Amino acid sequence: MSNRLKIAVFASGNGSNFTSIVDFSSHSQSSFEVVLLICDRPQAKVINRAKQAGIPTFVFSPKQYESKEQFESEIVQKLHVAGVQFIALAGYMRLIGKTLLEEYKQRIVNIHPSLLPKFPGKDAVGQALQKGVSETGATVHYVDEGMDTGPIIAQQSVPIPPNSDRDDVQAIIQQVEHQLYPQVLHELCKKVMEGAKS
Ligand code: GRF
Repeated sequence: MSNRLKIAVFASGNGSNFTSIVDFSSHSQSSFEVVLLICDRPQAKVINRAKQAGIPTFVFSPKQYESKEQFESEIVQKLHVAGVQFIALAGYMRLIGKTLLEEYKQRIVNIHPSLLPKFPGKDAVGQALQKGVSETGATVHYVDEGMDTGPIIAQQSVPIPPNSDRDDVQAIIQQVEHQLYPQVLHELCKKVMEGAKS
């Protein structure tokens, strides 16, 4: 067995977290390697990032399937062929359904741009600004059937400087995400491998 866990990243958009995860995995100490990108938006920028990094992709259009179960079954097939053991959602704008959750129990995590349980769902940064809070942050959590509701694994807070707009806050949070997420994945994948050995 390889000494690195094979992971897939799921993303729908820009993919800056995808890149930070891939960059981390290029260090020899990394406990994981990224073997597949799953993307549900054929125009997403993350697809080019994967191509540049030489990482295989499975890109699909959900509307070409009759149901979530149908496209998730195809995703599961692709994950199996690539030998994927662990999944990191990074800006994947879709709830995970039963098909994937059952196949990868306790093996799917997500990063969300707030201190959950505060501001779940879409536009977490906008929600924080509207509330006028002075700090927010990033959370890595296990994925369950809800929207950003699974058990929390790690969090890091950041201050919101006065008069910040959405872009400012987003940039501050992403700087933290790019450090936090790969590090947490590294720890989790290490634990999964240790568990497999014992
Ligand atoms: C990140 O801020 C993440 O917290 C959220 O979606 C954003 C994705 O950004 N789930 P990117 O595509 O990784 O740049």
